[in-house]
Amino acid sequence: MITIAIVNNKGGVSKTTTAVNVGAGLAKRGKKVLLVDLDGQANLSQSLGVGLNGKSIYGVFKGSNGIEPKEINKNLHVMPASESLSELELELVSEFEREKFLKYALDEVKDDYDFAIIDCGPSKGLLTVNALTACNDIIIPLQSEFLAMQGVKSLTDLVFRVKKSLNPTVRILGVLITMYDKRKILNKSVASEISQHYPVFETFIRENVSLAEAPTAKLDIFKYAPKSMGAKDYSSLTDEILSKYE
Ligand SMILES: Nc1ncnc2c1ncn2[C@@H]1O[C@H](COP(=O)(O)OP(=O)(O)OP(=O)(O)O)[C@@H](O)[C@H]1O
Ligand SMILES: [Mg+2]
Repeated sequence: MITIAIVNNKGGVSKTTTAVNVGAGLAKRGKKVLLVDLDGQANLSQSLGVGLNGKSIYGVFKGSNGIEPKEINKNLHVMPASESLSELELELVSEFEREKFLKYALDEVKDDYDFAIIDCGPSKGLLTVNALTACNDIIIPLQSEFLAMQGVKSLTDLVFRVKKSLNPTVRILGVLITMYDKRKILNKSVASEISQHYPVFETFIRENVSLAEAPTAKLDIFKYAPKSMGAKDYSSLTDEILSKYE
């Protein structure tokens, strides 16, 4: 199983949209995919119509259940979040090895999946550190706007701290430019500045209203609007990700 964390402490940059649609894209190509909702807002769970009652990632951290996901289809499973996740960081403050709880839980299911995709919330707290510790690779979605570079720098500082102490082999698979609008000159210059410092995916995700509508129908973009620009972009991103593991 290859585990990919979708991380950016900045809010609203397309982390959840990317987790859902890369997950669905990989599942469509025959890969067995586990989506992990690590955000107390539970946007990923809700945007695929997964209820928050029952076993959740909260129970994983509290030791009351393992990864026991809900099935969207044969190839796509979701381990839901729960609203209590927001209290978890305080509850775990004195637990030994609390940065590794997610890693240990995912190790138990590593033979059941080809990919696990972790959707992080907009924070650099304990849950995000768990994702960085549990994953092989990181995708950083980014809106190319003013000061975007500073944001990536502070996030990658955290990645390097985790690499030193908790997860020596973790790597940044790529920065993903999202909500791209080629008419905006700033978008272009930020994208090229970032690429001087970090690997950037060749695929840019363009602004596309279907991507914003799909969660209200509780569907991924390939089911909601298969001919949309959003479906095209996430399809080529999926291929680009797969090509990095060939
Ligand atoms: N390419 C896009 N074009 C248009 N709208 C988009 C696009 N990507 C995401 N959105 C919309 O922008 C909003 C923020 O996206 P999303 O929830 O994926 O971000 P996030 O990084 O997960 O946010 P948070 O930090 O709160 O978890 C959502 O309403 C989503 O539907
Ligand atoms: Mg989100």
